[in-house]
Amino acid sequence: MNLPSELYEGREQTYIKHTFLRRYLEALAVKVLMGGFTTFNYVDGFAGPWNTIDNEGCSDSSFGLAVELLEQVRRYVEEQRPGRKLKVRFCLCEKEPGSVQRLREFAKRHPAIEIHVFDGEFENNLDEIAQRIPDGFTFTFIDPTNWVVRITEVGRFLNARTGEFLFNFMTEEVSRHSVNPKVAHQFGDFVGDSNWQETVKLLPEGMKGELRVLHLLKDAFRKCGSAKFLPDFSILKPLINREKMRLMLGTNNPKGVKLFRDIHEKVEKEEFEKRRQAKAADTSQDMLFSDADFAQYEQGERGIGCKRYREVTEEIIVDALSKRQEIDFDDLALEVMERMPMRETHVKDVCVSMRTRGLIRYSLPPKAKKPKPGTMISAGGSKTPP
Ligand SMILES: C[S@@+](CC[C@H](N)C(=O)[O-])C[C@H]1O[C@@H](n2cnc3c(N)ncnc32)[C@H](O)[C@@H]1O
Repeated sequence: MNLPSELYEGREQTYIKHTFLRRYLEALAVKVLMGGFTTFNYVDGFAGPWNTIDNEGCSDSSFGLAVELLEQVRRYVEEQRPGRKLKVRFCLCEKEPGSVQRLREFAKRHPAIEIHVFDGEFENNLDEIAQRIPDGFTFTFIDPTNWVVRITEVGRFLNARTGEFLFNFMTEEVSRHSVNPKVAHQFGDFVGDSNWQETVKLLPEGMKGELRVLHLLKDAFRKCGSAKFLPDFSILKPLINREKMRLMLGTNNPKGVKLFRDIHEKVEKEEFEKRRQAKAADTSQDMLFSDADFAQYEQGERGIGCKRYREVTEEIIVDALSKRQEIDFDDLALEVMERMPMRETHVKDVCVSMRTRGLIRYSLPPKAKKPKPGTMISAGGSKTPP
C-alpha cells in the first residue's frame, strides 16, 4: 500500500523516508513475528510530530504510520498462527514540549495500544525506555533534525537489545556544519570520538566531508557492537541532484542487508517518479514518457545495480580476492551489498561477467548458470564462453 501523496506535497523527501520506513518495517515485523518472537518493540527516539498535515491521525508521521502498520502486522500474524498471542509496544520520545503534548494526545486516542511517551532528549530517556521493553525484538528509529546526537549513549542502548535500527543521517546539515569550529565538539559526540578531526585525516583523500563523518559514525556503531552491517540509502532533494539525507540500517543479520537492498530498489524507483513529478510541476513542462517508464530508465542509468556500481563491485571483488584465496559467494555478496547499492542478483550478474572474462573462477553444478550461496569464488582462471 502506498502512502497518501496528498499529505506530502512539498515534502517529497519525507514521503520517501516514510515509504522506506514503512516497507522495511512491514517486511521485518512479519519475519520477526512469524519467526518466533512474540513481542515487537518500536522505539521512535526523535518522534515529532514534525510538519504533519494530518494533525489528528498523524498518519504522515513516523510513529503514526508505525502504529497503524504494526497493529496490522500483529493481527495478520495472529490470523496466520492461530492460538499465538503477540504483543507490540511503542516508545515515543520527543524533546519539544508542544510535540510531547501531541504525542500524549495521540496515545490517549489509542487506549488499546501500549504506547509510552517520553519527554525530553532521547539520550536522557534511554534507561526508562529500556525498562518498558524488557524483552522481545526492538526496532529503533533515530531521526534527528541535524547532527546533535550523543552516539556513545545511543550505541550502548542499541547494543543491549536484540534488534535493528534505522538512522537518518542528515547529509545536507552535516555537510554545511561539520567545518564550523564552534560545533566541532558536537560532531565529536556524534561520531563518538572527541579527537575526530584528527581521525578524519586518516581517511582516503577525495572522500567528501559529510561522507567522512558518515564513515566515522558507522565505525562508532561497529565499535560499540550495535551493528556489524550498516548499508545506506540516499534521498535526494526533489528539484536538484543534491543529497538531502541518508537512511542507514544497523543490523547484525546478513538477511537484513539483503532485505534492505530489495526495499532500496523498490523505493528508489518511487523516488525517481516523485522527483520527476515535482520537476514537472515546477516547470509545467510536458513530458514525453510516463513517470514509471522514466523511473525505470533512470534507475538503470544511475540507480541500484547501474553500470558504475557494477564497476566498483568488480574492484571490491578483486580486492577481496587479493586478501583471501577463495570466498563463499554469500560472503562476497554480503560485503558488496553492505557497501554498494547492489542487490544479490546484481552481484551474481557481475560474477558471471567476471568469470566469462577470466577474472574469477568458480564451478557450478550442471545446468546452473549463476553462483549462489555456497559457491566458492577464487581469482583468475581460464575464460568461460558466454
Ligand atoms: C525530523 S523530526 C522527526 C520526524 C519524525 N520522525 C517523522 O518522520 O515523522 C526530529 C524531531 O526530533 C526532535 N528532537 C531533536 N533533538 C532531540 C533529542 N535529542 N531527543 C528527542 N527529540 C529530539 C525535534 O524536536 C523533532 O521533533
